[in-house]
Amino acid sequence: MKYTKLRRISAKAYLRRQKKRRKEVQMKEITLLSVKTEDAEIDTSLTREEVLAQMMTLLVAGYETTAISMTWALLELARHPDIQQRLREEILSFDGEPTYDQISKDFPYFDAVVHEIFRLHPAAPEMGRMAREDDIIPLSQPVRNRCGEFTHNIFVARGTLVSIPIPFINRSDALWGPDAKQFRPERWLETDGITPQARELQGYRHLMTFGDGPKVCLGKLFAIAEVKTVLWVVVKNFVLEMRDGPNTQVEKGGGMLPRPRLAGEDGAKVPLRIKRYGG
Ligand code: HEM
Repeated sequence: MKYTKLRRISAKAYLRRQKKRRKEVQMKEITLLSVKTEDAEIDTSLTREEVLAQMMTLLVAGYETTAISMTWALLELARHPDIQQRLREEILSFDGEPTYDQISKDFPYFDAVVHEIFRLHPAAPEMGRMAREDDIIPLSQPVRNRCGEFTHNIFVARGTLVSIPIPFINRSDALWGPDAKQFRPERWLETDGITPQARELQGYRHLMTFGDGPKVCLGKLFAIAEVKTVLWVVVKNFVLEMRDGPNTQVEKGGGMLPRPRLAGEDGAKVPLRIKRYGG
């Protein structure tokens, strides 16, 4: 979704909300967007611009990311019928609808598929940080600098913008092994599937997908539950295939976040062939 479109949607949603709020003026409600302090002297209500800024974060952070992850999940399952069928068998081995705890913990292959999607197709392409003070980043392996010399550390001056390339870290051969770029959920189940190098990464499940540290994604557990819930229903009931067969080429479309699309086609969409399972 384009930035301007997103801003328009945010503004419309904000205005709708304002209209509704005027009608509900008697209702005592505390919402994320209008938190007041107990001290009536200090007005901490947000300005229109601040509300819009927060809505942008929530729409991009909470909607686009999850939608993109789900698209990649359906796509990878369509590309890998064997994995799709194994996943379906695990889902069908359960009678009824799982609770949050069950869907989070009780289905190891399901969990492996979902985390392999988050590893291979992280929805956020990078994280940015600004160095608050001069620092030196030590490197595990030397790199060649601009002067052609090998160095074991990088000096970062105060105020430097540092970009952390999430997909490159998640798919690095040096960290995840020679099959790092393959969609292979089994790695999460095998004893040595996660290499010692990857295990050194601190992020959630050794992934950079949701960031790490004090600014880690606030909605990660919610996002994982959302993706799992949708996949559960879809894979249980439908068989997914690529529209033009298993070798259909996919590329990353434009937009703020890396949405997939069929190679050479307009728009960020991935048409699939869907049929009812067992039908
Ligand atoms: C697959 C889905 C998602 C991915 C891959 C994702 C990824 C990320 C990443 C990489 C960051 C930045 C962390 C940093 O700068 O260190 C972030 C921040 C954030 N995410 Fe998510 N996110 C997802 C879903 C969600 C959902 C569903 C919500 C809310 C319902 C959400 C809310 C947020 C918020 C509020 C922040 C800002 C945290 C802060 O600045 O303190 N995210 N997310």
